[in-house]
Amino acid sequence: MTDFATATPARLNAPALDAAFLHDPYPTYARLRAAGPVLWRDDVFQGAWLLTRHDDVELALRDPRFSSQRTGGWVKRIPGVDASFAGRRAQAGLDAFQRLFGSAMVFLDGAEHRRVRQAMAAGFHPTLIRTLRPEVERLTEELLDGLDARAGFDFIAAVARPLPSRVIAHLLGIDSADEARFMAWSDDLAAFIGALQPTAAQLRDAQRSLLQMVRYFDALLPARRAAPGTDLVSRLLAAQDAGELRPDGELLAQCAMLLFAGHETTRNLLGNGLYTLLAHPHAWARLREDEAGMTLAVRELLRYDSPVQYTGRRMAADLTLHGTTLRRGDLVIALIGAANRDPDRFADPDTFDIGRRAGSHLSFGSGAHVCIGAGLSLLEADVVLRAVLRRWPDLATVDAQPRWNGIAGLRGLAALPVSVS
Ligand code: HEM
Repeated sequence: MTDFATATPARLNAPALDAAFLHDPYPTYARLRAAGPVLWRDDVFQGAWLLTRHDDVELALRDPRFSSQRTGGWVKRIPGVDASFAGRRAQAGLDAFQRLFGSAMVFLDGAEHRRVRQAMAAGFHPTLIRTLRPEVERLTEELLDGLDARAGFDFIAAVARPLPSRVIAHLLGIDSADEARFMAWSDDLAAFIGALQPTAAQLRDAQRSLLQMVRYFDALLPARRAAPGTDLVSRLLAAQDAGELRPDGELLAQCAMLLFAGHETTRNLLGNGLYTLLAHPHAWARLREDEAGMTLAVRELLRYDSPVQYTGRRMAADLTLHGTTLRRGDLVIALIGAANRDPDRFADPDTFDIGRRAGSHLSFGSGAHVCIGAGLSLLEADVVLRAVLRRWPDLATVDAQPRWNGIAGLRGLAALPVSVS
């Protein structure tokens, strides 16, 4: 095996993270994993360490030496950022974006993070999520009723995109009539957050959309304060009034991030999930016989093709890992998608096996930042995949090679045409 820790920078940068990688990252992950556990890349966020093994990715997610406060440095280092944000007004807009972005819970550490998470926790309590099932079922049936499977339809546009958007709108108590706007804002954030090498143009779009999202929520607050409901925005307002959230935009940053996180990821669980099941007819047939197997199947879908392929951390202290020293301030990319296929953790990792029980995937992260919306997205996947299976047991994909969205970090299909013959 090559010792990449002492290899030349050119060797370090192979293999390419190109279009083939975006289509199917798993062969590249296997090569990276074989190349060494800790690899430096110049072409990822202008320089970052990649971790590919399950144990190391889990360590990065759980160990406080890997800080979640990672946004500042790489936003400023994006090529062309100074030209794109020239002038006092543009710079002030960028500063506002960075402040909001950096105060989302996923980018906080320690006591700050615990305080914000605590304020949100009640809104995601498993008992509360369970009560949402009838509404998720209703929204799903409403979408499926409008479809003609004989004529064929695009599952992403018809179901995987709108459903999570309507569910998160319901949770936040906002009007799903504004759905087209949410999705456009969210897509801009996804293109920026999910890029391995974000451009100044992606940053500009993300900045504009985040600020619009925040203005949207800000305009809702007076009415919500006057007549609070049981929705998440009302809960967060109460938390702010109780001093649990700072009154300087912290609440708005969480709302915007929830709107984004609530549907961008779940859309890809639904899309990648249905695609994988249809590509494995034995699994589809088994679920037709035994629908109760869906819980394990969704868990395996998450492992096999995770909607979130990586997350980042910044070193809060020097740390030597497998003989390589990661310096304080270095950026680390924890490749969840690679960890989920680590042969040291999962037997036969490239095989999709809905009966698999051993090993835990890292698709929802791990430790203090483990996904707060996991229960909600599992509920949505369970409801949608069961409903599709029941309604169209003979459903099949129309294209053997559907189009992927080209977003490295938020892996999903751009379209999934399906039909019954
Ligand atoms: C299949 C769907 C989903 C996947 C794969 C997913 C994945 C993840 C991952 C990997 C993290 C950890 C990030 C890190 O440690 O850096 C995370 C955190 C988070 N997720 Fe999700 N997520 C999903 C759905 C949702 C939903 C539906 C919501 C909200 C309604 C949500 C809200 C959040 C929030 C707020 C955090 C930050 C938690 C914290 O920092 O304490 N996610 N998610």
